[in-house]
Amino acid sequence: MATMESLIGLVNRIQRACTVLGDHGGEGMSLWEALPSVAVVGGQSSGKSSVLESVVGRDFLPRGSGIVTRRPLVLQLHKIDGGSDYAEFLHTPKKKFTDFASVRKEIADETDRITGKSKQISNIPIHLSIYSPNVVNLTLIDLPGLTKVAVEGQPESIVEDIENMVRSYVEKKETTSSTLKLLVAPNCIILAISPANQDIATSDAIKLAREVDPSGERTFGVLTKLDLMDKGTNALDVLEGRSYRLQHPWVGIVNRSQADINKNVDMIAARRKEREYFETSPEYGHLTSKMGAEYLAKLLSKHLETVIRQRIPSIIALINKTIDELNAELDRIGRPIAVDSGAQLYTILELCRAFDRVFKEHLD
Ligand code: GDP
Ligand code: NA
Ligand code: MG
Repeated sequence: MATMESLIGLVNRIQRACTVLGDHGGEGMSLWEALPSVAVVGGQSSGKSSVLESVVGRDFLPRGSGIVTRRPLVLQLHKIDGGSDYAEFLHTPKKKFTDFASVRKEIADETDRITGKSKQISNIPIHLSIYSPNVVNLTLIDLPGLTKVAVEGQPESIVEDIENMVRSYVEKKETTSSTLKLLVAPNCIILAISPANQDIATSDAIKLAREVDPSGERTFGVLTKLDLMDKGTNALDVLEGRSYRLQHPWVGIVNRSQADINKNVDMIAARRKEREYFETSPEYGHLTSKMGAEYLAKLLSKHLETVIRQRIPSIIALINKTIDELNAELDRIGRPIAVDSGAQLYTILELCRAFDRVFKEHLD
């Protein structure tokens, strides 16, 4: 029997194939949209990009004070059996990136390509895949931070524009398609990032998460900057769920500070530092095993598996429908000739069949 990990890997591959092909699920809903992903939500500079990097375990995202993330970044992590890490962008399909500093530069350049070197934002996502033996299979979305006021060089509408963009990723989606009614709406998992050095009652992340997910079933509360809290205060009320209860446990994080970034402190050192922080902390010592970015990654992966398991019956229905549609399409254009679209359709059909097989094994 296939492991759940390979199942998520397959989901990731299908999502990617669907992205390449564009919407192919029919009636405005692709497999890509039918499967869960994880998006970060929070105020500007709350540590969203830092948390994502840390969950991935690689340095590759632009970070810093001010508005750094200005386009959505859709990031798919693929666990591979061996070999070394590499990355690929959808907009440069033939290029394999093995140097992650150049991945970061490509994200920054590709952002500027659409928005100019301004403080403007764009809704057009950047698609990035990372292949590594050291990741868990996840699809993550980095988003611009929620703000309160427009700064110099930004239109007045930016506060609302960012909120609408973030909302479009995390909002509860209802399907209007009659044939897909059987599908549970594909709702994104929310990583709600709040900095510990601000009162949780003022958290933009929690405010938005509560609106789009009132029951808290798909929201993970992440508390960053524990190291920056005022002396004599601690975050136990938040971390132990007394301040704001969510269905999932809160996870505390210590990311690299701006000084660490400037000194090029690497991921391994950063993770070690984070572990040490919790292990030696008089306040959080008893929570050590449930804190930190590595634990967060495990928690997310486990949750994703649960969600996928629940959705197996409806996804099978969608897969079968897609297979029928793709077969009809292939019949129309002729069987796998070397024509690009035919070959691509054939590939996705093969993926769908593999997917279907694995799901059926899991149902037995
Ligand atoms: P984003 O705007 O939400 O994506 O936040 P970034 O990840 O870009 O981080 C913004 C700034 O906060 C950077 O200078 C980070 O170094 C700093 N930062 C983020 N998390 C932490 C943390 O846990 N501790 C400390 N000391 N600094 C952090
Ligand atoms: Na920032
Ligand atoms: Mg960011």
